[in-house]
Amino acid sequence: MKHESIVLTGDRPTGPLHLGHYLGSLKQRVELQDIYKQYVMIADIQALTDYFDRPEMVRKNVLEVCLDYLAVGIDPQKTTIFIQSLIPEIAELTIFFLNLVSVSRLLRNPTVKNEVAQKGFEERLPAGFLIYPVSQAADIVIVKGTIVPVGEDQLPHIEQTNEIINAFNRMYNKEIFGHVTGRVSKVPRLSGIDGKAKMSKSLGNAIYLSDSADAIAEKVMKMYTDPDHIHVNDPGKVEGNVVFNYLDIFDPEVEVVTELKAHYRRGGLGDVKLKRRLIDVLNTLIGPMRERRAEFARDPQAVMNIALEGSEKVREVAARTMDEVRQVMHLNYTK
Ligand code: TRP
Repeated sequence: MKHESIVLTGDRPTGPLHLGHYLGSLKQRVELQDIYKQYVMIADIQALTDYFDRPEMVRKNVLEVCLDYLAVGIDPQKTTIFIQSLIPEIAELTIFFLNLVSVSRLLRNPTVKNEVAQKGFEERLPAGFLIYPVSQAADIVIVKGTIVPVGEDQLPHIEQTNEIINAFNRMYNKEIFGHVTGRVSKVPRLSGIDGKAKMSKSLGNAIYLSDSADAIAEKVMKMYTDPDHIHVNDPGKVEGNVVFNYLDIFDPEVEVVTELKAHYRRGGLGDVKLKRRLIDVLNTLIGPMRERRAEFARDPQAVMNIALEGSEKVREVAARTMDEVRQVMHLNYTK
């Protein structure tokens, strides 16, 4: 059976989205929405697996993430934006899927393993945390998703998703769910402003899509450059220099950047001058997003309504998927 190509992605609403999210996924979604049917999910339940004690934080960020989507140009006419907790069918399907996964398989998922070690759960590992990849499989297939744009760290979840749906299809002898492909974007990794490999909220080194022009200027001025480039005339290092990492990625004038690198290496080009250029480049990119965001933010209820209407649409799709599932599982009771 041929399955339609359908894109599904999601984000945990634990904070506003930053430039790393933009480069690594949001930008691609804006392109994908013109090619495929696309769903984007705000994973509030998954966020609660980490922040069960901070529901108000998660709730607040549902709106922030939705605003970020609209700000970057995810168009609700083309992309269905929805909220995970409003689709109870996901939880239902998760329960069914749990029969097809062993605890040892769950414990072997390398991404989960890392997270468990990082969080230091040990004997107190919450069952809900351990099974989140199963819930993620349900997120994807409830809308019959087949393409999932993800970061490298999510690939083990895609592999687990395919194991689950293969087991399901085989068990009930019907190809209800199509193979899921994880698409890792080939974009260069954006470092944090401190030069750490990853931009993240928890490291406090992020530039947010909602940052004001002043905040951006302040962050760029603090960016890690070359600690040995003390006097303007000293030769400077381009490798590992965050300002050049960003200019390489965001500055459309490639030749100018090549020139600047040569000049910096020779000596005679000051950090401040370089940083001023980057501030301009980032404001050209983020400025229009900031304006669009501010405009949407004037009517938060209208923004929530977009996600609520998207969720209603997804419920209809989910009900159809569950009809098929219930049918093969002999759970289709009728009077
Ligand atoms: N785990 C993803 C993240 O942390 C978010 C997510 C939840 C997701 N469900 C998903 C991503 C389904 C892709 C598909 O970024």
